[in-house]
Amino acid sequence: MAAGTAGFGREIEGVIDINLLGGIITKAVSPNPRVGNPSPRVAEFHGGMINSVGLANPGVQVVAEREIPWLEDYAHHARVIVNVVGDEPGDYAKVIAQLEGYDVISAFELNVSCPNTAKGGEEFGANDAVLTELIARAKGVTAKPLIAKLAPTLPSIERTASVAIAAGARGISLVNTIPGFLYADPPNERPRLGRGRGGISGPPLLPVGILAVRKVVRATGAPVIGIGGIRSYDDMRQYLAAGASLVAIGTAALANPRIPETIARRWGARG
Ligand SMILES: Cc1cc2nc3c(=O)[nH]c(=O)nc-3n(C[C@H](O)[C@H](O)[C@H](O)COP(=O)(O)O)c2cc1C
Repeated sequence: MAAGTAGFGREIEGVIDINLLGGIITKAVSPNPRVGNPSPRVAEFHGGMINSVGLANPGVQVVAEREIPWLEDYAHHARVIVNVVGDEPGDYAKVIAQLEGYDVISAFELNVSCPNTAKGGEEFGANDAVLTELIARAKGVTAKPLIAKLAPTLPSIERTASVAIAAGARGISLVNTIPGFLYADPPNERPRLGRGRGGISGPPLLPVGILAVRKVVRATGAPVIGIGGIRSYDDMRQYLAAGASLVAIGTAALANPRIPETIARRWGARG
C-alpha cells in the first residue's frame, strides 16, 4: 500500500489485510501533529483523482504510542515502511530517532516532495544541498534503510535520485503526485478542493511513473519502489519491466480495496 492511502494499517483493517500483501507504507509522520488542509480534501475527475490532505497526522509521539504497537501485534507478514515528512531538514531525523528502536519498522521513506518552510516553501528534493543534508542527518540516527520519495516534476529526476543515493539513501520511491487544480463550478472561481491546488494520482500517473523508474534505474542501479496509477497486474508488470524492485498501490485501492490483494495473489501464483 502506498503512503497516505492506508493510514497506519489499522484504518483499513477488515477491508484490506496488509498481511496478504508485501506490506504497508504508512501515512506521513511529522514531529508535531498536523491538522492538514481544509475540506474538501479529495476530488475525482474522469480518469483520476486529486487530493490536498496536507499530510495530516497525529505526530510522531502519538504514532509511537498508538499506531506502532498495533502494527507490532498485527503485521506478522507485512513489512512496514514509515513515511516521514517535515517542515525543515532536521525534522526528518527527529521523527526517525523516535521510531528507530521499533523492530517492526523495516525502513523509512522520506517524502522530500513537500515544501521546506525554512527555504520559502521550495521542495526539499529540488535543492541538492538541502536534500544531502536532510538524508545525512536522517542517516546519522538510524541503521535502517532510507528511501527517498521523489516527485516526477523535478527537472532531472535521475540526477536528484543520484544525489539522494550519494547522500546515503538505499533506494528511491517513484513517484509522488503531480500538482493540479480543479474548479467546483466554472465559470465561478471557487476551487473543488478546500486548499485550491492538490496532487494528482491514479491512472494519469502510470506512464509518468514508469518513465521515472526507467530513468532512475538506468542512471543509478538503485532499488526503486514503483508507484503511480497501478490498477491491474499488467500495470504492475510495467513497473517491473522498468526495473522496479517493489510496487505500491494507492488510489486504485481507494476505489476498489480488492485490487492490491488480487495483484499480489496473481504474482504469488505465477509459474
Ligand atoms: C489521499 C492520498 C494521500 C497521500 N498521502 C501521502 C503521504 O502521506 N506521503 C506521501 O509520500 N505520499 C502520499 N500520497 C501519494 C501516494 O503515496 C502515491 O505516491 C500517489 O498517490 C501515486 O500512486 P497512486 O496513483 O497509486 O495513488 C498520497 C496520495 C493520496 C491519493
